[in-house]
Amino acid sequence: MTGRLQGHVAIVTGGGKGIGRAVVDRFVAEGARVGVLVRSETDVRSLTTQHGDHVLPIIGDVRNWADNLAAVEATTERWGRLDTLIPNAGVYDFSDRFESIPGETLAERWREIFEVNVQGYLLAARAGLEPLRASRGSIVFTLSSSSFYAGGGGTLYVSSKHALVGTVRQLAYELAPEIRVNAVAPGGTRTGLRGADGDGRSLAEIEGFDAMVARNVPLGFLSEPRDHAGLYVTLALRSESGFVTSEIIRSDGGIEVRGGRRKNREQA
Ligand SMILES: NC(=O)c1ccc[n+]([C@@H]2O[C@H](COP(=O)([O-])OP(=O)(O)OC[C@H]3O[C@@H](n4cnc5c(N)ncnc54)[C@H](O)[C@@H]3O)[C@@H](O)[C@H]2O)c1
Repeated sequence: MTGRLQGHVAIVTGGGKGIGRAVVDRFVAEGARVGVLVRSETDVRSLTTQHGDHVLPIIGDVRNWADNLAAVEATTERWGRLDTLIPNAGVYDFSDRFESIPGETLAERWREIFEVNVQGYLLAARAGLEPLRASRGSIVFTLSSSSFYAGGGGTLYVSSKHALVGTVRQLAYELAPEIRVNAVAPGGTRTGLRGADGDGRSLAEIEGFDAMVARNVPLGFLSEPRDHAGLYVTLALRSESGFVTSEIIRSDGGIEVRGGRRKNREQA
């Protein structure tokens, strides 16, 4: 690692595991100090064991304004600045079909997904505005291939991730020129992505998920969280992406060109 983020301070929400954790690991390896909003003591221990005082884990819930503000305040108090904010914590709906959700519970199910996936991102962005403006920093959201296509989730997850495309665009427009607003949109990734509180399901337990993703993308494999992490570094650095805002970089194995199915290698 070349230490491209020496002196850089970031915050990652949901950075205890999965994609967020890979971003924390990469930022620290590049020399950054990282505030990490996590939900559990286990995540705190795992982060501090690996990264010592290069990370500042803060336990909280992204659905709450006070917890987002506390993460920003604790991080800026510790290191005096904030350069990059990475709203990333998310929950999944396990592709539940729209018709299978009883009308009586639909509003509640919608709230469970949107409160984390959309409201959580807005609250984090709002909490970080002042220090990000001061540093001429940037926001890098975690979006998804479900921000562009149907079928990678159910109606609730896909609509929540589509809503974030508008969020990136409007914030990029409103917060320029001081704050750049971009995103990384991963495709299928080996993580334990879970449902809303109390749901109990996990992506890691879906049988055949690896093979299904591998079959459906031209690059032919299920990605690991670390496969996406370098893109966050590039978007965080004004020296590398200083003229870039409202951009969403897809890191999805080439879904867009698959034309309905992956090219058969034998026919290549
Ligand atoms: N895994 C995939 O295939 C995939 C693909 C595209 C996009 N994504 C997106 O990547 C992001 C990270 O997910 P992941 O796959 O790494 O899963 P993950 O479960 O490993 O990470 C999600 C993190 O969010 C945290 N979180 C959930 N609800 C929270 C809350 N209310 N408050 C605070 N933290 C909360 C979890 O504790 C966890 O650390 C999500 O936004 C997800 O939608 C995942």
